[in-house]
Amino acid sequence: MTVGGDGFAAVAGGPAPHIPVLGRPALEFLNVRDGGVYIDGTFGAGGYTRAILAAADCRVIAIDRDPSAIALGAEMVAQAQGRLTLIEEQFSNLDRVANDAGFDAADGVVLDVGVSSMQLDQAGRGFSFRQDGPLDMRMGGAGPSAADIVNDASERDLASIIYILGEERHSRAVARAIVRARGEAPITTTKALADLVAAVVRAKPGDIHPATRTFQGLRIFVNDELGELARALAAAERVLKAGGRLVVVSFHSLEDRIVKSFLINRAETRGGSRHAPEVKRPAPTFRVLTKRPVTADDAEIAHNPRARSAKLRAGERTDAPARVHETDELLPRLPTLAAVLKGRRA
Ligand SMILES: C[S@@+](CC[C@H](N)C(=O)[O-])C[C@H]1O[C@@H](n2cnc3c(N)ncnc32)[C@H](O)[C@@H]1O
Repeated sequence: MTVGGDGFAAVAGGPAPHIPVLGRPALEFLNVRDGGVYIDGTFGAGGYTRAILAAADCRVIAIDRDPSAIALGAEMVAQAQGRLTLIEEQFSNLDRVANDAGFDAADGVVLDVGVSSMQLDQAGRGFSFRQDGPLDMRMGGAGPSAADIVNDASERDLASIIYILGEERHSRAVARAIVRARGEAPITTTKALADLVAAVVRAKPGDIHPATRTFQGLRIFVNDELGELARALAAAERVLKAGGRLVVVSFHSLEDRIVKSFLINRAETRGGSRHAPEVKRPAPTFRVLTKRPVTADDAEIAHNPRARSAKLRAGERTDAPARVHETDELLPRLPTLAAVLKGRRA
């Protein structure tokens, strides 16, 4: 493990090291100060948390929904000597977690969303089409797995999930193939699903694996990743002090769109248009700090190919009251989990 002077490291976290992506700009935008309280909503292997703790004499409340990330973080908690609180939770509840830890407000919230390399590389977690394992894909232990969705959802719901969240053009053919295959026997392994998709989605040499988009769509649905993100942004709005910073690193255009729309909406001062009367809006709750998203430079991408699709956006909280949050306006239209699980016989 190499640790730079700024506290960033390829953190050894069990089977595969997770290299923090866009760590330096994330830390700069977070503006870490002595005496501050920072919430790291995606602890993972603790790369961001470690760097925040190294940057100033501050407190960190770190959250992860994955019990194995929490277990691996125990040593860092001990080393931090009371400056780090690590909680197994979903980051959509980050304001409540901070309140329960004794803090009614925070100076910064950082989210580095998606899966960690450790999760991807452990065959038993079922995230990867490259290794055979149970078709699971849950970041936390609870709730329906990818196998439940694949075996119970209607063909139509499967096609929607794979099209909207996986952005797979051949979603209908994939859904049809899934329904045909599960009529013979339930689909329970990553290899079974990956082989089935590869048989209907043709890949040219040099293309990504044909199952990439289908796996991505199912993973995002199983973990309600977009809903979690939209709710976490609202939770950050509620918990941040005036002048506090929100920093989000995302890896997928659907996620980036949610962060961008949220920040634009919260920073807007005027409504209406040239042709319509001006609409009076509530006072802005954020000032946008990144007109364009920050992306990784060539050196970071060469060192860590995962950084290629990363986008960082940041905002600074104003002193206006938090808004009542409607997540629906930020999210694509999709069937609910309950409806999907009832779907097979529908
Ligand atoms: C990309 S990794 C974060 C890596 C971390 N920044 C580091 O430097 O090691 C994302 C982590 O966030 C966690 N996660 C994703 N969505 C979550 C959610 N809704 N609530 C809590 N944790 C979540 C995952 O379990 C994973 O460990």
